[in-house]
Amino acid sequence: MPSFYITTAIDYVNGSPHLGHAYEKVLTDVIARFRRQMGDKVHFLTGVDEHGQKVQASAKKRGIPPQQFVDEVSAEFRALLPKLNISNDDFIRTTEPRHKKVVGDVLQQLFDKGEIYQAEYKGFYSTRQEQFLQDKDRNPDGTWPEIFGDVSEITEKNYFFKLKQYQDWLVNFLTKNPDFIFPAFRQKQVSEFLKDPLNDLCISRPKERLEWGIPLPFDEGYVTYVWFDALINYYSAVVDQPGVWPATFHVIGKDILVPPHAVYWPIMLHAAGLPLPKGIIAHGWWLQRGAKMSKSTGNALNPLDLVTEFGADAFRYFLIREMNVGQDSDFTREQFLVRYNSELANNLGNLVNRTLNMTTRFAAGAVPAAGTLEELDLSLRALWEKTRDEVIPLCEGFQFHTALERAMIFLTETNQYIEKRAPWKLGKSTDAKDQALLRTSLATMAEALRLAVALIQHVTPSTTEKINNVLGHKAGAVWRDELVWGGKLTGVKVAESLVLFPRPAPPAAEAPAPKKKA
Ligand code: MSP
Repeated sequence: MPSFYITTAIDYVNGSPHLGHAYEKVLTDVIARFRRQMGDKVHFLTGVDEHGQKVQASAKKRGIPPQQFVDEVSAEFRALLPKLNISNDDFIRTTEPRHKKVVGDVLQQLFDKGEIYQAEYKGFYSTRQEQFLQDKDRNPDGTWPEIFGDVSEITEKNYFFKLKQYQDWLVNFLTKNPDFIFPAFRQKQVSEFLKDPLNDLCISRPKERLEWGIPLPFDEGYVTYVWFDALINYYSAVVDQPGVWPATFHVIGKDILVPPHAVYWPIMLHAAGLPLPKGIIAHGWWLQRGAKMSKSTGNALNPLDLVTEFGADAFRYFLIREMNVGQDSDFTREQFLVRYNSELANNLGNLVNRTLNMTTRFAAGAVPAAGTLEELDLSLRALWEKTRDEVIPLCEGFQFHTALERAMIFLTETNQYIEKRAPWKLGKSTDAKDQALLRTSLATMAEALRLAVALIQHVTPSTTEKINNVLGHKAGAVWRDELVWGGKLTGVKVAESLVLFPRPAPPAAEAPAPKKKA
């Protein structure tokens, strides 16, 4: 069984999780579930990034020790996962001993090999970004961009990792592996970035300035730079599990591709003699009115509010249906409601209702066997086969939004099929031919429904399960077999009804307009 190891970025725990964090978990989960369905042995890791200046500062603001602070916030991130139906196998916290030990080991190994050296640094430093700045980072007018916060000039001794000497190696590696980063245009951006010379990477922070970090094993006066610490989580989490490393994919947001994931991480691994991941998937941002949703801009949406109101699957469906992986997308409640109502409540919800209702009314609740198939049945079946054959490669290429669109088209066509067949009319007829057609129609709609929800089950796992339950269907272990049109439901007893996507409560009535003066 091929092994497939997939990770998300680990979130900073300096504030509550928002929609952007939730999206990354959902996207990674959709890929993980899809690969499991395809027969891979998946290992799925997510977690939290608990060290560094941002976290230290947030704890200070709350007036509590950093450990207590990260314990609280990490619990919140962790609790979100089951609420979003995330099927992760592991959850890592960078304050755990298993992680700290591996970071120490990697640092010591690199130090012993001469890949890390000490030097005096004089220059500008952004506390907010925990980053040393260069003149090229300035605005054209010489000031420092907002994102850096307070910038101060410092002189201090630090430890540096020899990044620069691996620049040619990395350029070469990317040329030889043109599909290392998805989408492809992001890999081009990395190659552009590598046209300028790299600097060695400062991987230490003096303890007087930052205490909240992993001590350097070879100098207790320093802690490890948060990115050097955080990236190693992907490896530290599986170091004890033979055969899992290297990762198949790291799923991350576009903001942390260059330089951390596309430059530091491959070079760190290469210098440590470890194999590289197969690829990196860089997704875009959820925006609100064009601006990145984030804690600091105060426009972050709490994913739990939407999950509480609409359910995890509707939330997952929207995120995956709306976002083309790699691009940005604007989040609006209006658009959420449009998809919820037209695609989930109407298209899917109606098919479920009709199937259960008509099978109950016209076949005493047991799915009949299909008789001779006519043109209408055959063309729905042909559409199914086309849909399935397109959806699998779309999912393999992370085009989940288009895959869902295809599944929706199939559902629309199935509803059309029912309109054309009008089983409610056939049910009134005593003619043997009409009765045979009725049985075929009921069998066809039940089978089409079973197939459609199997096709989207990596996006809507609990909805698919609920529908399978009311259809009296126990899904088999092999997904591809589930996708074969084959009267699998013949003779099963279905439930009478299922409430799936209830209409949301209408917004509170507006206050009546003030009366115009006569
Ligand atoms: N701690 C680092 C990552 C270390 S990985 C070794 C970090 N944390 S973060 O909390 O700021 O971001 C975590 C992930 O959420 C990143 O991949 C980031 O791109 C993603 N998102 C944060 N805001 C986002 C949106 N508005 N939209 C989509 N995802 C975005 O960076």
